[in-house]
Amino acid sequence: MQIGDTSPTILVTGGAGYIGSHTVLALLEGGYQVVVLDNLCNSSEEALRRVEALTDGAIDFVCGDVRDSAELERIFTRFEIAAVIHFAGLKAVGESVRSPLAYYQNNVEGTLSLCQAMQKAGVKKLVFSSSATVYGANAPVPYRETYPRGNSSNPYGRSKAMVEQVLEDICTADASWSVASLRYFNPIGAHPSGLIGEDPLGIPNNLMPFIAQVAVGKLPELAIFGQDYPTDDGTCIRDYLHVMDLAEGHVAALRRLSVAGIAYFNLGTGQGYSVLDIVQAFERVTGRKIAYRFAERREGDLPAFWADASKAKKDLGWSASRGLDEMMADTWKWQSKNPKGYRG
Ligand code: NAD
Ligand code: UD1
Repeated sequence: MQIGDTSPTILVTGGAGYIGSHTVLALLEGGYQVVVLDNLCNSSEEALRRVEALTDGAIDFVCGDVRDSAELERIFTRFEIAAVIHFAGLKAVGESVRSPLAYYQNNVEGTLSLCQAMQKAGVKKLVFSSSATVYGANAPVPYRETYPRGNSSNPYGRSKAMVEQVLEDICTADASWSVASLRYFNPIGAHPSGLIGEDPLGIPNNLMPFIAQVAVGKLPELAIFGQDYPTDDGTCIRDYLHVMDLAEGHVAALRRLSVAGIAYFNLGTGQGYSVLDIVQAFERVTGRKIAYRFAERREGDLPAFWADASKAKKDLGWSASRGLDEMMADTWKWQSKNPKGYRG
């Protein structure tokens, strides 16, 4: 799919969410038209209004559920959709252990109903939000796309691995499908305007929004989960990437969807940082002190992983260009301008 193709229209499920809203912005800036389907269970329509303001663009928003086949059929009838980017789903690991049905329903059943509607409409180009979690607990680092999917320790991770298998089978059965399954590492940061960013409901599960909320005074201190991991400073290592780099990775993947079959891509920087590295970088860049204490390890956390990001560079022409300082500065700009998120 080329940009010159007279503004193709992309359906973005979950487009009001954290990564979705940044990707919608990158799509509009890349000359695409966008239809968003989102049930707003973990997001706000305000994110889309702000994307429109930032890009001077217009988004067709449908408030609905990706499991609603009739709604999907209406969308494919009303709009001439060229391809779909599928973000819609639930993503909290701990919650997935407590509520597995909700995770399989939203993440697996949701993708099945989407693919059925796509098949019916003859739209067979899909970019899927997968995760580094599909490599499981025993893969050596850096993670490479050639590794088999491993065993995930929780229903969230298993739902992503199941969906990858489903998509692989669809592509095997019908060579006219083209799918890019993007395995994200740890997206953080926000658009440099500070107008859109990550707005978790309740107490954040993830490191970066937790740090940002300590910095803004909403939370008293960060608990660092574990200080006895086999890493240089004893804290876990992850591959953090700027959400705008990740958003641009989706546009790069869309352009590749003329190739038949399924392809997997790691979207990460290829560089790992520890939890303490992140705390120190945030303090250095923003000048805010982060109160922290060490706590027990969090169940299911792996000591260290990062991406081999060379395939995305070679095949998509994409690599992350924003460094840790930019990730910290943009996180802080978003959090300090919007201490209550979109509800402020
Ligand atoms: P998010 O919760 O901000 O965005 C998900 C969006 O999907 C939300 O707007 C939510 O309202 C919507 N949604 C959920 N279920 C829906 C349904 N049944 N029908 C319609 N809309 C629905 O999360 P995010 O961080 O932007 O993640 C987007 C995708 O990327 C998810 O699939 C997630 O699993 C995946 N992912 C995220 C990360 C991460 O670190 N954030 C890492 C790897 C993979
Ligand atoms: C987690 C999920 C992963 C999911 C991703 C995005 C787990 C085990 N993994 O990744 O499947 O795709 O979120 O939703 O939950 N940390 C602290 N204190 C905190 C929060 C985090 O020390 O309050 C540490 C964690 O131990 C980890 C690092 O910070 O070492 C990053 O954590 P997080 O942001 O939750 O990401 P992941 O655990 O890598």
